[in-house]
Amino acid sequence: MKKLEEKIIKEGSVLSDSVLKVDSFLNHQVDPFLMKEIGEEFSRLFADRGITKIVTLESSGIAPAVMAALTMDVPLVFARKRKSLTLTEGLLTADVYSFTKEETNTITISEKYIKKTDNVLIIDDFLANGQAAEGLINIVSQTGASIAGIGIVIEKAFQDGGKLLREKGFKVESLARLQSLSGGKVEFAEEALT
Ligand code: G4P
Repeated sequence: MKKLEEKIIKEGSVLSDSVLKVDSFLNHQVDPFLMKEIGEEFSRLFADRGITKIVTLESSGIAPAVMAALTMDVPLVFARKRKSLTLTEGLLTADVYSFTKEETNTITISEKYIKKTDNVLIIDDFLANGQAAEGLINIVSQTGASIAGIGIVIEKAFQDGGKLLREKGFKVESLARLQSLSGGKVEFAEEALT
């Protein structure tokens, strides 16, 4: 997605050979106009998939996911990373290990909000090693619902997550794919993969 790539070039900063900081439009401050276009792009890419629900992980997945949900006219459910005061019963859980942060989070979704008849689109802001996506797949699978695909805003194609998910047969659509962050420079992969 050209507009996203331009935004990454203009406002992103490379923190290391493996980490891109995009807190001016995605991870802290949010650009709602860009999010709207991102939502429309996900809607276009998964138009023929009969999506009935979108599932993401708090916090940075919520902005792109809610715009996709609005465009696709379906509800959004976000998995929680922290215990909720009010959400205590009928919880589905999965453990998500973050290689970046070297910590494990138990993520939860109430079983009330995903039915086995649902056809779920998983959306997240970043795809690195794929642990967050795997955790969401795990939870959705516990409900018996189908997974129609995975939509990612920024994929780090030099890490394994995208390859592993595609090898498992999931349709993964990433709006920007980073080939490399070496030497402080952002390089995009030539073509988008599905
Ligand atoms: P994985 O799920 O693909 O295995 O990713 P990983 O454990 O490496 O990532 C953990 C957190 O770090 C996730 O956010 C992920 O989105 C984020 N992340 C990974 N690589 C980058 C990067 O290059 N740049 C930025 N900006 N973020 C990255 P999180 O902890 O869930 O944060 P949030 O959603 O609460 O904001």
